[in-house]
Amino acid sequence: MHAHLLAALRADLSTASFRVDTLRELWGPMADAALGRGDRVPAARALESRDEPAAILARLFVLGLEVDASEVAAALPTLGVAGAVDAELLEQHGGLCVATLDLRPYDVIDARGAAWWWLASDLGEMATGGALRPDHVLGVGGASSTLAGLQLPGRVGRALDLGTGSGIQALHLAREAEEVVATDISTRALDFAAMTAGLNEVSLDLRLGSLFEPVAGERFDRIVSNPPFVITPRRPGVPEYEYRDGGRVGDALLSEVVAGLAEHLAPGGVAQLLGNWEYGARDGLERAVEWAEEAGLEYWLIERETQDPAAYAETWIRDGGTRPGHPDYEPLVDAWLDDFEARGVRAIGFGYLLLRAPGRTASAPLAALARAERLDAALGDAAAGLGGHLSEALAAHDAIAALDDDGLAALHLEVAPDVTEERHYWPGDEHPTVMTLRQGGGFRREFRVGTALAAVVGACDGELSLGSILVAVAALLDVDDGALRAEILPEVRELCLGGLLRIHAGAAS
Ligand SMILES: C[S@@+](CC[C@H](N)C(=O)[O-])C[C@H]1O[C@@H](n2cnc3c(N)ncnc32)[C@H](O)[C@@H]1O
Repeated sequence: MHAHLLAALRADLSTASFRVDTLRELWGPMADAALGRGDRVPAARALESRDEPAAILARLFVLGLEVDASEVAAALPTLGVAGAVDAELLEQHGGLCVATLDLRPYDVIDARGAAWWWLASDLGEMATGGALRPDHVLGVGGASSTLAGLQLPGRVGRALDLGTGSGIQALHLAREAEEVVATDISTRALDFAAMTAGLNEVSLDLRLGSLFEPVAGERFDRIVSNPPFVITPRRPGVPEYEYRDGGRVGDALLSEVVAGLAEHLAPGGVAQLLGNWEYGARDGLERAVEWAEEAGLEYWLIERETQDPAAYAETWIRDGGTRPGHPDYEPLVDAWLDDFEARGVRAIGFGYLLLRAPGRTASAPLAALARAERLDAALGDAAAGLGGHLSEALAAHDAIAALDDDGLAALHLEVAPDVTEERHYWPGDEHPTVMTLRQGGGFRREFRVGTALAAVVGACDGELSLGSILVAVAALLDVDDGALRAEILPEVRELCLGGLLRIHAGAAS
C-alpha cells in the first residue's frame, strides 16, 4: 500500500480511537463473548444504530458487514472511500461498501508493559460465511496468542519470525529485538505483514520463501515460529490451507523446523515454537525430544494435551469451516482417520517447544537444559502471558542444574507466593492421606508431597539454608538426615525448576 494511503488510514484509525477498549464499550460484554465464539450477531445488533467512527469501522472491518458509503466516508475522513478502494481495503457496490480484509485493534500486556497495535489479515469465516480460501492469511487465533504470550522477555539482537502471517509474532519480537526478520511462503501474508508493520510504524525485514531459505547462512538470538504444523492427509479433495499445513506427511514439518534451527540459532540463542507430534509405535513426546537431540539443541518441551485421531480430525475440519452435516464432512473425517491408521497413529500431542543452542557460557554439561514434561492441567487462556514465568524458570534451571547436592543444600529458598498446600483426610483421621502443592500461576503445576517434603517446603522462607532445614526436619521426624537429604533433594530440584520454590534474593549460603 502506498505510504500516503497508509498514513491517511493510520490518521483515521487514531482519530476514530479504533481501540480494543472502545469497541468493547460499544458492543458490550455479551457481544464480546459471542465474538470469541465466532458469533457476530450480538455485536452487529449493538453497533447497528451507532454512528461513532469506531462503530462504523468495526462493522466494516471486524464484523465484515456491508456499510453505507456515506458512513464510511464519515469514518475515514482523511483516506476517503476512494482512497480506501485504491488501497484495496474495501469494494464499493453502489451506495454500499464491503471490506476486503480484516483490520482490528489488538492489545498486549507483557514484561515491557502495555501496548496496542492494529492488525491486518484476511476476513475470517465469521465475516465471509463460507469455507476459507486455501491461501487464507490468518488473523490472531488462539495459537497466535499462546505463542505471543510465551515469548521470553529481555533484550536481544537479531530475531526471526518464521511463517509470520499477519505479523503478530514479529510485532511482539520487535518490542525486545534490535532487528526482526519475518519470513513467509505466502506473498499475500507478507503484504498483510507489511501493512501491519506500516500501520504501527514498526520496522520489519520481510522476506519471501520456504522455511529457512530466506535466511540461509544467518543466525539469530531469538527465533519464534507458529509453523504450519497441522497434520493433514495428502489426499485429493482434502483442502490444503497454507496457514496451517506445511505440505508434509504426518508431523514431518515440525521435525524439519527443529532440525533447521541448529544452523540458525546464535550460540545460546533460543527458539520458541508450537507444534504437534504423533504417537504411534513410539511415544510422541520422546520423538520430539529425539528431534531436538539430533539437532544438538538443548530443549524444554511441554506437552499441554493430547487428542485422539477422531478429535484431531474434527478440530481441523471445523477450523477450515466444514461442519457436520455438510456433504464433505464425513469423507474428510475418513481421510484423516485413514491417514493416521496408515502410520499407526493413536494420539496427537500438542505442545510448546523451547530450544536453545548450546554455547551461551562455558558451563558444565550438567547445566544443559533437557526437560520434557506433560502438564497436569489444561491451561486454556491461562497459557497467554507465560513468557515471564518461562524466563524465570530458565534462570532457575541455569542456576540449579549446575549445582551438585552440596551446592543445592547451601541455597536459601523461599516458597513462591502463588503456591498453596492442599491436605485431604479420611474422615476422623488425624494425618492427611494426600498432600498436594498447587501452583496458582505459571503452568499450574501440582506436586504430591509426603510429610517430610511438606515440612521442608513449609520452612523455606529464605532464612535458613536448605541443608539446615533438612537437618532440622530429620530430627523432628526422627529419621536419618543423610537418607532424608537423598530423598528430598531431587524433589526440591523439581520444585525449583517448576517455579514453586525460588532462590531467596540476596541470601547468603
Ligand atoms: C499458523 S500460521 C502462523 C501465522 C502467525 N505467525 C501467527 O502466529 O499467527 C503459519 C504461517 O506459516 C506460513 N507458511 C506455510 N508454509 C510455510 C513454509 N514452508 N515456509 C514459511 N512459511 C510457511 C503460512 O503462510 C502462515 O502464514
